[in-house]
Amino acid sequence: MKRILSGIQPTAESLHLGNYLGAVKQWVELQEGNDAFYCIVDLHALTIETEPAALRRRTLASAAQLIALGLDPKRCTLFIQSHLSEHNQLGWIFECITGFGEASRMTQFKDKSQKSGADRTVVGLFTYPMLQAADILLYQANKVPVGEDQRQHIELTRDLAQRFNSKYGDTFTVPEAHIMKASAKINDLQDPTAKMSKSAASNAGVIDILDSADVNAKKIKSAVTDTGKEVKFDEKSKPGISNLLTIHSSLSGKSIAELENEFIGKGYGDFKSAVAEVVTEYFAPVKVKAEELLKDEVGLIEILREGAEKARVVANRTLKSTYDALGLVPGKQFLP
Ligand code: TYM
Repeated sequence: MKRILSGIQPTAESLHLGNYLGAVKQWVELQEGNDAFYCIVDLHALTIETEPAALRRRTLASAAQLIALGLDPKRCTLFIQSHLSEHNQLGWIFECITGFGEASRMTQFKDKSQKSGADRTVVGLFTYPMLQAADILLYQANKVPVGEDQRQHIELTRDLAQRFNSKYGDTFTVPEAHIMKASAKINDLQDPTAKMSKSAASNAGVIDILDSADVNAKKIKSAVTDTGKEVKFDEKSKPGISNLLTIHSSLSGKSIAELENEFIGKGYGDFKSAVAEVVTEYFAPVKVKAEELLKDEVGLIEILREGAEKARVVANRTLKSTYDALGLVPGKQFLP
């Protein structure tokens, strides 16, 4: 069985369509026939200052949505990053083998730090990718299902694993990014050349899966398109329509060619209505299920704690072999 690991930051009340189509949809599929670990990376979320009550609420809301979207805690290990100290411990080791220049080249760091300016950028944002490498390598993951925006972080993770292995002996599995070509980058509906993101300046182009059918239908109907008439996939000259085709196709299971055919002779208005219908129908039951799960907070936390105990067995073992490889004198923190 292949080991899978991926993570999501609890930085919003609702997952957006990019999170689902770029990552979580694959997570659900990869539960079958693999040993899958999925982590809500609350420590990573601390790189953005958040009100404590909101962080707590978003962490549980993320868990509820992941389960409602199809993660089954009996078939995968779903847990919260901060429940295991091993993530920080291994993160530090990677900070000690990552070059300053190498970390400075991470585009997510560059973008985010440029936006807020050097004085307001926290050190945690700089070391973020080393904690992410720890998340992955602790579990000896073979595959990491993510969207395109995470490719560079996975590349760094691979470099760190190889570097450690060649210096200190084989300790880590070198993972591969698992990126679905068709839905690797879902774009903002108002700016269809930029990725859909929870940190977008305006929420008008972001489809939150928990939003009401009305709100999402309105956003889809006002999506930016082009001056043409044809519903055709062409990312260069029709980025808006192409994005909507990707969304429809990923959720309805119809191919892009089938959809192009279906909308021959029809206008963009009809097509947008069809996309809105597919999106709202798909996520309506998810919203109900997520709300239901959140009503039993104690039960939800228990699921996550059980997940953490399963994760600990693997994480603790990897940390022990890492410490051994480095020549650190073993303490009592390791499981028998
Ligand atoms: P995060 O929380 O920003 O996003 C979670 C997942 O959603 C994907 N994604 C998208 N995919 C397609 N189109 C989009 N517009 C879009 N927006 C987001 C992301 O690629 C991601 O897969 N650094 C990670 C979290 C992380 C992690 C890990 C991931 C921490 N440790 C270990 C994998 C393995 C992040 O910020 O994802």
